Amino acid sequence: MQSSSMWGGRFSGKPSSVAEQISESISFDNRLYKVDIQASTEHARMLARQNIITQEDFDAIENGLKMVKKEIESGQMQFSPELEDIHMHIEKRLTEVIGDAGKRLHTGRSRNDQVATDTHLYVREAISAAEEKLLSLLRQILELAQSHKDDIWAGYTHLQIAQPVLLGHYLMSWFWAFYRDLELLRFARRESMRSPLGAAAMGGANYPIDRDYTKTRLGFEAIYENSMDAVANRDYQMSFHFFATRLFIHISRISEDFIFYSTAEAGYIRMSDAVTTGSSIMPQKKNPDIAELLRGKSARVIGNFLSLLVNLKGLPSTYNRDLQEDKVYLFDTVDQVAMGIDGLSEILRNIAFFPDKMIQSLEKGFAQATDIADYLVSAHGVAFREAHELSGRLVRYCEENAKTLGTLSDGEIAELWQGKFTLPREILDLRQSPGRRQGRGSTSPQSLGEQFALAISLIGIKEQKPSGARPVFRPSTL
Ligand code: ARG
Repeated sequence: MQSSSMWGGRFSGKPSSVAEQISESISFDNRLYKVDIQASTEHARMLARQNIITQEDFDAIENGLKMVKKEIESGQMQFSPELEDIHMHIEKRLTEVIGDAGKRLHTGRSRNDQVATDTHLYVREAISAAEEKLLSLLRQILELAQSHKDDIWAGYTHLQIAQPVLLGHYLMSWFWAFYRDLELLRFARRESMRSPLGAAAMGGANYPIDRDYTKTRLGFEAIYENSMDAVANRDYQMSFHFFATRLFIHISRISEDFIFYSTAEAGYIRMSDAVTTGSSIMPQKKNPDIAELLRGKSARVIGNFLSLLVNLKGLPSTYNRDLQEDKVYLFDTVDQVAMGIDGLSEILRNIAFFPDKMIQSLEKGFAQATDIADYLVSAHGVAFREAHELSGRLVRYCEENAKTLGTLSDGEIAELWQGKFTLPREILDLRQSPGRRQGRGSTSPQSLGEQFALAISLIGIKEQKPSGARPVFRPSTL
């Protein structure tokens, strides 16, 4: 039986049905149709410009590709595993529509440089979309931090209360993490700006092609200088996956904070019904499922990155069919990135923060202890280790007598310190603690103001610009 595939001349038999199943990628690479048509159009334009095909052939190809695109977008195109991938589907349909000119499109090109070109274009688009979303998330976090610049929050280490901080400072800690992800994304974009088109199967084309022309027409900044590298390279995808992985580690960790903060035991935040779900058996429950799912989805984003790394690690030079699998990991991660940023943004819009509850925990956690020790050092010249001991004495006394540091009387302090030092009440006032922190990057209001100014200059927004986003969720709407 004559094979219906594009390499029919050399083959007399058909692949077995399981081979066809393994071989096909149309079930997932159909989403490359737009970039495939874009790249084919520019390749054909270059062929005509170089007199490799006629202008009439190019006109027919250009119009034919437009028709094929319409057919795909209107759902008319039938995808069949027999035709393997999106490239074959488009070329076959083009030839059906315009006849012989369609058979000239693949001159001086291979699916190896074709799929590489398509994937570069696709990743570039995904990166632009992710950049826009990430910038709006950064703006949202900044605005939220500004609106909580005076509220007290607790800094935890080891999941134990550590020190009072400003809630704005806590929120800005995530701003900087996501800002670094933006920098990584921009690096990934630079890597996706090289054109592989013209590398053909791996050694270049036997025609006087103009790679710089297609590069410019397709909006690339440079070409791969080596055709073997061009068809083999998946570094730009690795960079995108690393960005996504790191982004999701951040999303997962902030989600974990919110899950903990929203427990009945902590009670520092509440997430509204928009991002929580109930239990089918326990009527009182409000579960932070969306935050948990974002934490859970980080696993598959990390997994996709790992899959690509493992796929690549033993491959010999240039194109190997294993590479077809790259798109499975890539497309899923592109989707998760969009959903992950949107999801976190939605959670942030639907959180009410309760700083008063945090202050109670800080009191219970003796969070003034460091400030007390530091006071003894700066006001009385006590050596820090000794001051640590003196402060610890107050904590132990409180613990044994079910008190908090804030409720110690001057008399109790005098007794515990054998009358050697007094302690001004403001040192025990948790709300004044952040204001005593010094040095850039600390949680003092001054440093926080500096962070806001820098953040504004980095993401290019004007101060206090009202966002287009929905208003911040308030407790009264619970
Ligand atoms: N669908 C293939 C892929 O995604 C296209 C390249 C096929 N090239 C080949 N030499 N069989 O990798």
